[in-house]
Amino acid sequence: MDIYKIKGGKKLSGEITISGAKNAALPIIVASLMADGETVLHNVPNLMDIRTIVKVIEALGAKTHFDQAKNILKITAQNIKNNEIPYELVKTMRASVYVMGPLLALTGEADVSLPGGCAIGERPVDIHLSGFEAMGAKIILEHGNIRAKTKKLKGATYKMNKVSVGATANLMMGAVLAEGKTILENSAMEPDIVDLGNFLNAMGAKIDGLGTDKIEIDGVKKLNAVSYSIMPDRIEAGTFLIAGAITKGSITLKNVVPEHIGALLYTLKEMGFKIKTTKDTVSISPSQKLLGTIIRTVPYPGFPTDLQAPIMALATILSGITTVTETIFENRFTHVPELRRMGADITIEGNTAIIRGVKSLSAAPVMMSDLRAGAALIVAALAAKGTTEIRRIYHSDRGYEKLPEKLSQLGVSIKREKGEA
Ligand code: EPU
Repeated sequence: MDIYKIKGGKKLSGEITISGAKNAALPIIVASLMADGETVLHNVPNLMDIRTIVKVIEALGAKTHFDQAKNILKITAQNIKNNEIPYELVKTMRASVYVMGPLLALTGEADVSLPGGCAIGERPVDIHLSGFEAMGAKIILEHGNIRAKTKKLKGATYKMNKVSVGATANLMMGAVLAEGKTILENSAMEPDIVDLGNFLNAMGAKIDGLGTDKIEIDGVKKLNAVSYSIMPDRIEAGTFLIAGAITKGSITLKNVVPEHIGALLYTLKEMGFKIKTTKDTVSISPSQKLLGTIIRTVPYPGFPTDLQAPIMALATILSGITTVTETIFENRFTHVPELRRMGADITIEGNTAIIRGVKSLSAAPVMMSDLRAGAALIVAALAAKGTTEIRRIYHSDRGYEKLPEKLSQLGVSIKREKGEA
C-alpha cells in the first residue's frame, strides 16, 4: 500500500485548477442510465469512486468510455436490466444505492445490496426506502439485499424526516419518470443536488425548486441524452484553501463557484484570513492576527461536514480556542487521535471537539481512516515540523484528483512511495 511523505513548513503559493465535483458526478453518472442515446459528461474527475460507479452502471448493461486524461465520460444506456450489483462494489461505495431510483423508474425493480456502516457512522438508507414506498414501491430486506418492486412509480408528496443528500438525489431520479407529480419536502439544498437537477432538466425532466427545501417534479415519459459539464468540487476547493491557510501561504484556486463555499469563506475570514473572490476564482492570504472560532456542521448552506476534519487541522495551530461541533455524522472524529500524535491539543466532549491552539505541529507516522479524515492529515502535515508519513492513502484517492501533482504545483515537497504490504 502506497504512502505519502510530506515535508512540512513551506508556505504554499501559486494557483491550481479545481476538478469536477465527485458528489455531483456520482448521481449524474447513474442518472445517465435513464437517457435515450449517448450521454457525454465533461469535467468528470478521474477518481476511484467514479471508476467504481462506472463499473456499477456497466453491471446493469450500460456501455461506457472514460477518457481519463480529458475527464470525458461517454455513456450509452440501452436495455438496462436489474442485474444484481456485486456486493464487492457496493461495499466499497455507498453511492451504489443511487441505482435504485433509475432502476425502479426504468424496470420497476431494483435489487441492491444494503450498504453497511462505514468509518464515519452507521449511515442508514431508511429515508430512501420510505420515499420509494410513498411512491408505490414494495420493499423487502432479505439476505443483506434491498429488493424493491413496483408496476410503475407514482408521484407522491413525501417529507424527509432528516435532510439527506443521498435520499433527495435518489428520489428525484425516480420521480422524473414517475406517473404524476412528486413533491419532496425538507429536501437537500446542496449544490450537488442542484447540478443533478440541472442535468435531468437538460435531458427533458420537469423539476422545480432546485436549491430550496421543496423540490417539485412532474413526471415525463422519456429523457434524452445530452452533453453536460459537472460543476467544480467545492470540498476539494475548500480543502486546498485550508491547506493554503495552515501554511500562511497565498494561493489562488481556479474553476470554483465561491458561493458554494460561502460558509467556509465566512469562517476563514472570521479566523483572520484575507479572501478575494471573482466569479470563478478564490484567493486566500494570511493576516497578522489569526484566531480560533466556533464551527458547527449543518446541511448546506451551512458549514459542510466534509470540511470539518480539514478545518480542525487548521484550528490546531491558531491562537485561542476553536470548537467544532459535528451534527451530521455520529463518528466523524477519527482524525483526532492522529492529529494528537502530531502534537495537537484536542478534547472531545460528545459531538464537540475543543481545540486549543499549539505553537506548532510535529511530523509523525499517521494513518487515514476515511477520505476527509485523510485530508485533515495532509493539511496538518503541510504545517508540521519534519516529514510526515501518511498511510492508507487509498482513502484520499477516492476523492482528490491529482493530489500530489496539485500540491507540488503549490510548492509542497510530497512523495508517493510504496509502503509495506
Ligand atoms: N440518513 C439517515 N437515513 C437515510 C439517509 C441518511 O438517517 O436514509 C442520515 C445519515 O446517517 C446522516 C444524515 O442523514 O446522519 C445525512 O446523510 P446524507 O444522506 O445527507 O449523506 P449521504 O448522501 O450518504 C453525502 C455525501 C457525503 C457527505 C454527506 C453530507 C455523496 C456520495 N456523499 O452522503 O460525502 O458527507 O452527503 O453532506 O454525495 C465525502 O465525500 O467524503 C462524503 C462522505
